[in-house]
Amino acid sequence: MKPENEIRSQVQKAYGEAITQTACCGGASPGSYAQAIGYSPAETTSAGAEVAGASMGCGNPLSFSEVQAGETVLDLGSGAGFDLLIAAEKVGPEGQVIGVDMTPEMLATAQANVAASGYQNIDLRQGIIENLPVDDASVDWVISNCVINLSPEKERVFGEISRVLKPGGRFSISDIVVADFPDTLRDNPILYNSCIAGAISEEEYLAGLETAGLAKVKVNMRAEFTAELLFSDSPSDFFNTTSPDCCGASTADTQQNLELFIKELQGKVQSLNFVGQKPQQGG
Ligand SMILES: C[S@@+](CC[C@H](N)C(=O)[O-])C[C@H]1O[C@@H](n2cnc3c(N)ncnc32)[C@H](O)[C@@H]1O
Repeated sequence: MKPENEIRSQVQKAYGEAITQTACCGGASPGSYAQAIGYSPAETTSAGAEVAGASMGCGNPLSFSEVQAGETVLDLGSGAGFDLLIAAEKVGPEGQVIGVDMTPEMLATAQANVAASGYQNIDLRQGIIENLPVDDASVDWVISNCVINLSPEKERVFGEISRVLKPGGRFSISDIVVADFPDTLRDNPILYNSCIAGAISEEEYLAGLETAGLAKVKVNMRAEFTAELLFSDSPSDFFNTTSPDCCGASTADTQQNLELFIKELQGKVQSLNFVGQKPQQGG
């Protein structure tokens, strides 16, 4: 296992390249990937084809939330900002949305998308989800979409979710989990950046959230995350086509990774939605 900061740098480089490459986002059928992972046509239309086309999520966490007007929503690893715009609409002008991401290129893209949207209630912050630039007990909702699997220190992230939620505050997290993942593929940078090699099991995820003091933790939705979804219809396909030198991998390595994925991981990779809450004080 590489040191934690080295893993974060590798991930940051990959996502910085992904969002700035010309092939990323808004291609032939922008929004089709977003709809395949759970967004409605209305959500993709309202956010705009370019923003929806830049989705690198693996679910739609807000669709499993009951976010109300006036509330504060925090998005961990907010990327290009698709979920921020949907949340901004839900909380309305009296509410607030905070997006945290560590990748400067992602934040710049999100900033441009937020400016174009006209929403005034979105605050973007650079930081790592293992040490959130957010006050204690200050948010009603934590959401996250396909990010925690990328963290080399998941227990710190779960602890941060617990710290920043108000008592009674809730979370809705869409993320990848794996079962029987081959140890030989754990250090593979392409599979790691693609949200697979860093993923833990469903049981470990549930235990991590509960150990951090979160309550009523359960899985709301599960779907197989197929090779087609991961590699063929998403901006993530930059890992195997347009940026062959990404993260030290050659085209041949990348092709081999794709073949390995299809052969060895089929049926072992799922996209889940986790929900739960911080207990009320004294409760
Ligand atoms: C797979 S993308 C998902 C982006 C967005 N949630 C979406 O649905 O499109 C992962 C994002 O998480 C960010 N990220 C990964 N690890 C992070 C960490 N440890 N701290 C902060 N941001 C992180 C990356 O910069 C990238 O923007």
